[in-house]
Amino acid sequence: MKIYLIIAWTILLNVEVYAQKENGTIRIDVNQESKQISSLIFGQFIEHLGRSIDGGIYDESSPLSDKNGFRTDVMEKVIALHPPILRYPGGTFVKIYHWQDGIGPKSERPKRPNLIWGGISDNHYGTAEFVKYCRAIGAEPFLVVNMATGTPEEASNWVEYCNGTQDTYYANLRRAHGYEEPFNVKLWGIGNEEYAVPDAGKHQNADKYIEDAWQYVKLMKLQSPSIKLTLVGNPEDLNWCRKILKEMNPVFDYLSIHLYAMPVDSNYTSLLQSVSNFNQSIDSMRTLLTNTPAKVTDFPMWYRFPPRQEAVKLAIDEWGIWDMQSGKGRGTYNLEYAYDWSHALAVSQFLNIFCRNSDIIGVATWAQLVNVLAPIMTNATGSFGQTVYTPLQAYRKYTEKSYLPVSIISPSMDKNQKMIDAIASISDDRKKIVLTVLNLSPNVSLPLNLSFDHLTKGTHFTLRERITYTATALNEPNSFNKDVVIEKEEQFNTDSASNSSIDLAPASLNFLIFNLK
Ligand code: AHR
Repeated sequence: MKIYLIIAWTILLNVEVYAQKENGTIRIDVNQESKQISSLIFGQFIEHLGRSIDGGIYDESSPLSDKNGFRTDVMEKVIALHPPILRYPGGTFVKIYHWQDGIGPKSERPKRPNLIWGGISDNHYGTAEFVKYCRAIGAEPFLVVNMATGTPEEASNWVEYCNGTQDTYYANLRRAHGYEEPFNVKLWGIGNEEYAVPDAGKHQNADKYIEDAWQYVKLMKLQSPSIKLTLVGNPEDLNWCRKILKEMNPVFDYLSIHLYAMPVDSNYTSLLQSVSNFNQSIDSMRTLLTNTPAKVTDFPMWYRFPPRQEAVKLAIDEWGIWDMQSGKGRGTYNLEYAYDWSHALAVSQFLNIFCRNSDIIGVATWAQLVNVLAPIMTNATGSFGQTVYTPLQAYRKYTEKSYLPVSIISPSMDKNQKMIDAIASISDDRKKIVLTVLNLSPNVSLPLNLSFDHLTKGTHFTLRERITYTATALNEPNSFNKDVVIEKEEQFNTDSASNSSIDLAPASLNFLIFNLK
């Protein structure tokens, strides 16, 4: 037994020593073409599901809430998270949602069974509350309409209620409810996962979806021609996506796809792999989008609204980690997950994929925001940020305007997984570069060589600031009384050479901020 242990230790040590000898290298070529990163890829999603809204962001009876019923402790954390866009009201829930239930005096709003997720909805959090919440946190509102049990006319009336400026019934109804100014909701989704068979929907066939979606598009655009629309795509059914793009591309802006990482095993590499696999989905989507005309050149005037003005992009309007293997889910359908640091690294992998594909992704909203698959958790007396809150917040804070491709040489963790996952972003004036680097190895620190190519003679990029996130343990979540995340901020005042080497801590997320000198 002892001998075996000694052998095992020797092997482990050797692996460690061997791995530490290996370096990673990142080359940054400042002449590479950069691609703008849409700020809307850092959005969030809320749904009438379990404690996401009621008991999450909204609680009229809580002493922690303001006069609107918004939990102020939660709102503080949401503001600090800074999502630029918020999607609502579902999700699958939208298939039974009628927006007129959620407007006007709260005492007159009907109570309805939440047929999708269970419980009773009192509809006190509806359109105006959602828009007010968006304004308070500085996010664009993004509404999704009901295709399953709703009608195109109902959807069109909702657009009028929100955006109408004339002397018309639904615009006046909004005014009568105390909102003189239009809500000006610019982004609307037509249905949600309509292909899903067990859901309450009825459009599980792409042709049927297209036939009905046309009617929604027409009636909604006639109300408010400048709104942008997302249509339902399915990353697992390329034929579905191909058909939608072929038949409807002149009139919609974003193809919605949902990417939930669902590890097949409870181990770390399975989690990382479940995210890396999405590279393939995005590549397939890229091919479909590239084969779709970038411009609409011939659009009959008799539609009476303009065609889309820009190339169709993806709206990854639900993404996140649905780790059923972890056994860490609680609450409605076990959707209240305790995310640990491994999940935070997986979130960072996701965000790297989004930035790398920034030319074809216009919108992305993490599902969800509070309690359900969420970065923020609550109980009756308080709230805390989960580990995944850290990357969601940090990418929003540090990522620059455009993505700059870099070349990476990385040691491998196993045959499918490299240790380094990195992206670079560059400011509009090209004087600031942020290198976002993950060392995914759980236990090996990694020396990283950096070089900048094609700099004008006499100039160089110097490391000005470094922010490193690690955790006290890979597999422990945060809780009300524990924060496992360690943040280290370093400022450098002296010029260091632009071609330098730095150490990446195991299981770390690093933001290296360089300025041009
Ligand atoms: O986010 C939870 C659920 O996941 C949404 O309601 C649905 O769209 C997706 O399948």
